[in-house]
Amino acid sequence: MAIRNVVTEGDEILRKRCREVGEVTDRIKMTMQDMLETMREQYGVGIAAPQVGIMRRMFIAEPEPGRVYFMINPEMLEQSGSQIDDEGCLSVPGMIGTVERPEKIKIKAMDLDGVEQVYDFEGFDARVMCHEYDHLEGILYIDKAENIRSVEEDFEE
Ligand code: NI
Repeated sequence: MAIRNVVTEGDEILRKRCREVGEVTDRIKMTMQDMLETMREQYGVGIAAPQVGIMRRMFIAEPEPGRVYFMINPEMLEQSGSQIDDEGCLSVPGMIGTVERPEKIKIKAMDLDGVEQVYDFEGFDARVMCHEYDHLEGILYIDKAENIRSVEEDFEE
């Protein structure tokens, strides 16, 4: 495994729609393992392929330590309710902002074995999934957030 460079805001790569993954090849699996390592090194709870410069529809979420989801070609099936909370992004370092997200989602994706899975998520899990899914559409949380501020500023309050 290897740590990859994380692309930061301002880079056009983060603004493009990613393409479907054809087949879960060894190369895809290796990329996902690198993404996991890169995410954990920066204490992230999620990372999407375009954040490491790969324009493919796949992301990882680890909403709590050890509970890892590998999501390939994810499709949002249902969204309901709403929740408002702060979030940040490895591609927008040092910042947080307040974002409205659905409270519950149903999402379909292939796992690392290429097997299609359907998941129901709510609360923080749903938030992480929506944030990462947006990356595949070229959307960053700062497009939707209110009260975007530096993390330091927040600690001072
Ligand atoms: Ni992000």
